[in-house]
Amino acid sequence: MGMDDIFQGQAKERLREMISEERYLHSLGVADTAAELAERWGASVEKARIAGLMHDCGKSPSKNILLKRVLEFGIVMDEIEQSEPQLLHGHVSAELALREFGIDDQEILSSIRYHTTGRVSMSLLEKIIYLADYIEPGRDFPGVDELRELAGQDLDMAVLRAMDLTLIHVIRRGLLIHPRTVAARNWLISSRRDTNN
Ligand SMILES: [Fe+2]
Ligand SMILES: [Fe+2]
Repeated sequence: MGMDDIFQGQAKERLREMISEERYLHSLGVADTAAELAERWGASVEKARIAGLMHDCGKSPSKNILLKRVLEFGIVMDEIEQSEPQLLHGHVSAELALREFGIDDQEILSSIRYHTTGRVSMSLLEKIIYLADYIEPGRDFPGVDELRELAGQDLDMAVLRAMDLTLIHVIRRGLLIHPRTVAARNWLISSRRDTNN
């Protein structure tokens, strides 16, 4: 058993106490899917597993708990995040991963931080966590199996598809769209055009 296994064993125990059972099972699913995607696309499997496990550690159904932590951690909110505080759970989860679990790897932390919106110039690990969150085994929506297949064939296309589905969902529910998602989507489309030309 390596250090990482020991860390992950202890981390799982703590994590289980921090979030709901449903969210905990989702997190295990994201960790597994992220590890598979990392293997497939040449990212660190270990980092993917840790990031997947911790990505929602600060997620709370309570707006008040979320905002309390935002203040406590000195996270600066933009206007959209102020209106849709659930968007902040990535930031809060990254801070908790650092402060409570001692995870100081910036690649892991940024993939936790930006898993909710994506962002321009997403790293490979950021793409993997974004997508794993969407297609882990517990997810069930029309088209999820096609998206799982696509994730093994064309990572960027799969991330793009997941973003589109998220945007459609956000639009249907009449919620605000975070500009980071729009920018990330534009960036993915542009970078695909560049490589295809
Ligand atoms: Fe999340
Ligand atoms: Fe999640």
